[in-house]
Order: sequence, then structure tokens, then C-alpha cells
Amino acid sequence: MLQIQNLYKTFQRNTINEKTIFSNFKVDINKGDFITVIGSNGAGKSTLLNLISGAIQADEGNIILNKKDLIQLPEHKRSKIISRVFQDPSFGTSPSMTILENLSMAVNKGKKFNLSMGVYKENIPRFKEVLSQLSLGLENMIDTKVGMLSGGQRQALSLVMATISNPDLLLLDEHTAALDPKTSERIVELTEKIVLDKNITTLMVTHNLHQAINQGNRLLMLHQGEIILDIKGEEKKSLTIEKLLSYFDKIQDNQFISDRLLFS
Ligand SMILES: Nc1ncnc2c1ncn2[C@@H]1O[C@H](COP(=O)(O)OP(=O)(O)OP(=O)(O)O)[C@@H](O)[C@H]1O
Ligand SMILES: [Mg+2]
Repeated sequence: MLQIQNLYKTFQRNTINEKTIFSNFKVDINKGDFITVIGSNGAGKSTLLNLISGAIQADEGNIILNKKDLIQLPEHKRSKIISRVFQDPSFGTSPSMTILENLSMAVNKGKKFNLSMGVYKENIPRFKEVLSQLSLGLENMIDTKVGMLSGGQRQALSLVMATISNPDLLLLDEHTAALDPKTSERIVELTEKIVLDKNITTLMVTHNLHQAINQGNRLLMLHQGEIILDIKGEEKKSLTIEKLLSYFDKIQDNQFISDRLLFS
């Protein structure tokens, strides 16, 4: 469903700061896969999502989604089929607009006049229905400006906005990291519910090992731009922290067991 082939990316080429992060990187992802991605700081997780979404351009390679190579497509065209939620709750929503206006913008995404705020009253029951599934009371606040919401409420709204038009691919980059532990847990539960209900192929970067183990059907660990662990199927279902740590021991490189990764 998503095939990444021969991907190369070097930052600041021909300077003293030149850094090759991906060199002949490849991965194959099936439709409906919910993949958790872990790895130390600087492993290349965000860069991978940025290359897939088109936020940064690859030097070489192919990113094939549903048999179509995206590599030449600019980010705004990819955004019709690829949705993202970022770490910072203020990225996914517009604070000066109401919940209703934000959701209207999300459903208009990809349409010709996608920046128009076109609020269609007939959408309101559908929006309220989707919001009520979050159990945060947002369905009764649709005329509230999003800037008034808490980080958790905004992130829940970002998730709804990112998924309401059923994207082919959902990219989550530590989307719960800025939240307190309880809210983070709640947003991860909501993520799982939405992703499984809608069968959306998803890559979720997290520093939380519990989340990485408990969510999804496949786990990838990146290190220096390479996949050093790929756990799926039955092995993923029965994965525990202890087993995951035993893989670390086998790889015998403590560099990627950052404190943040272990203790979050
Ligand atoms: N625009 C850029 N210019 C130069 N170097 C960059 C750029 N973006 C990323 N890098 C470098 O690429 C490497 C991978 O960065 P990336 O942000 O993908 O890591 P990450 O796995 O997401 O880490 P973190 O867990 O800290 O979010 C790092 O060494 C980083 O400094
Ligand atoms: Mg990152």
C-alpha cells in the first residue's frame, strides 16, 4: 500500500555540517497497518514523516502510495491523501476560529476552494456525532474558539480534523508528547479507536515504550536512519517491555536507549 524504495536524504550537502540521514532506506507497509515508530533523538523519525508528507524533498527514491509515486508531488497535493498531527497542539487547529469552522475547513480540504471557511449547516449533526465520540463535551462547544480549549481538547480535535475525510495515510509525530500523562493516555486511546474504526493506515512516532508496545500491529525502531527492529504479527501482539529490552541487549548499543525513551 505504501512502498518506500531507495530513499536518500542528505542535509546541508557540501557543507561542513553535511549529514546523510537516509541512504537506500526502504520499507513496505500494508493497508490498514497501524505502525508505532520508536528510536532515539535524531534517529530520523520526523525526517521520515517529513519526506513522506513532502514537507522536505528526498534526494532520490520513490514513495509509492496506492501504486502512485508521490516523489514529485508537492506537499499541498500530498496533503489531500496524507494527514498529519504534530506534537504541538497549536499546529493542527486554528485558534481564532471556532470548532465548527475548524471542522468545516477540514472537510473542505482537497476541494477546489479549500481555504474557504464554507460552513455548511447540514454538516453540524455529523460533526456533533463525531465529537461526541471523544467524550470530551466538545459537541456542545462548536461555536467556541479553539484557542480557548486545553491542549488535550485541541489535540483530540486535531485528530478528528486529520481523519474526518478518511485520508489514505495518517502520520502522527509524538502527537501526545506535549500532554500530561493522563491526557496523553486518553488521546492515544482515541487515536486507536479512530484508526481502527476507519481502518486508516497509520505511522505513529512515540517516545513512550508502553504506547509503542500496546498500540498498533507493527513496531519499527529507527537508528541512524535505518530500521533496526521490525516486529509484527503474533510477535508484536505478545511483545512486552522486557522482550523489547532484550532486543536492545542483543543489538548491544546503548546509544539508542535514551532516558526519554525508557522512562516516558
Ligand atoms: N532541516 C534540517 N537540516 C539539517 N539537519 C536536519 C534537518 N532536519 C533534521 N536534521 C537532522 O537529521 C537527523 C534526524 O532528525 P529527526 O528530526 O528526523 O530525528 P527524530 O528521530 O525525529 O528525533 P527526535 O526524537 O528528537 O524528534 C538529526 O541529526 C537532525 O539534526
Ligand atoms: Mg522527531
